[in-house]
Amino acid sequence: MTDTENPVPKPYLSNLPKPRIPPTEFGDRQVRRLHLNECPYQPSPRVKEAVAQASESLNLYPDGGWTKLVEALGAHWNWPAERIVCTNGSDELLMLSAQMSLSPGTEAIAPGPCFPGYPRAVAAQGAKLVQIPVRADGGIDVRATLDAVTEQTRLVFITTPMNPTGTLMNAEEVATLLREIPDHALAVLDEAYYELGRHAGGPDHDDALAARKGPWVVLRTFSKAYGLAGLRLGYALCGSDAIKRSLDNLRITLNVSRLSQAGALAALSDTAHTAMILDKTAQERRRLTEGLEAAGCPVLPSATNFIAAKLPGPAADAARTLREEAGILTQTIPYPGFEDCIRISIGDADDTDAVLNNLPMLLGASGPA
Ligand SMILES: Cc1ncc(COP(=O)(O)O)c(C=O)c1O
Repeated sequence: MTDTENPVPKPYLSNLPKPRIPPTEFGDRQVRRLHLNECPYQPSPRVKEAVAQASESLNLYPDGGWTKLVEALGAHWNWPAERIVCTNGSDELLMLSAQMSLSPGTEAIAPGPCFPGYPRAVAAQGAKLVQIPVRADGGIDVRATLDAVTEQTRLVFITTPMNPTGTLMNAEEVATLLREIPDHALAVLDEAYYELGRHAGGPDHDDALAARKGPWVVLRTFSKAYGLAGLRLGYALCGSDAIKRSLDNLRITLNVSRLSQAGALAALSDTAHTAMILDKTAQERRRLTEGLEAAGCPVLPSATNFIAAKLPGPAADAARTLREEAGILTQTIPYPGFEDCIRISIGDADDTDAVLNNLPMLLGASGPA
């Protein structure tokens, strides 16, 4: 007997578009990977040592409570270790946050454009995504976001610094959102680029988070400022024991490998290495921004490891030409109004030189017909 009322897969899942998995492997082809906001520098040498040591125990399951890592993170961010949840990249936490809060008939609010993980996570729960266009400076439109909240809203994404624009929100803007998002919605403060934002002079949001009555979670990652994208380690600071318990119930029990836990712990301990990554990133960001602006391409002020630049014409053409002719990978921003914007990750000095040397190609390819 078949159950036509409850088909498998659930109808809203089988109707979803094919997931867009970004290209990460290029065989022998030499490319400059400026499309995924990766860190161009190797992680701290301590990471390799720690991972090598952890690889002596690969026959054993990892610590499902990440004891040493959450203690270190708690001490580092002055946050209770028992309210931290580690996952396989912070991308996984986007899925878990959506699972925790959404179901068919409910709504989530996100900025437009936004990180592609948001629409995916919302769609996977059969919920509706309401996207609020960002302001001209690339930041979240606080008032329009709050105006979009309805009785059905269960999740609001706040991203600072913002991907794909790089924009840093100020303390008052984030405090307003955290205060006014109603208690029936989960506030997800996505701080994947937190360390870069702080290095650029951005605020923390500790007081505003502590003052929020409704549910909230902060998402951070080792993928960006620590150069550990390949280890896949994200973590959540949970606003309450109930949020922590929900994430623990939803996640896979032994979810983060021994190698990832050991590597992240070592990376966190090497603050001088992280400072080096942040300094060099800021330096190259300045050089890339100045070069693009001197060539007539306005760049949104960025507090992170990528920039969004406005080209004279379609960014898709420019990105294709850069990829095919110069082996430089970049991102387009598929959102209305951003057709002529290109997102370029900040690489090392050699990457910056390569982009700047190819500016005529970039501008020529995107120039108005
Ligand atoms: C805004 C934002 N959130 C989350 C992520 C996911 O990062 P990861 O899964 O590597 O921790 C990214 C990655 O680029 C991002 O830009």
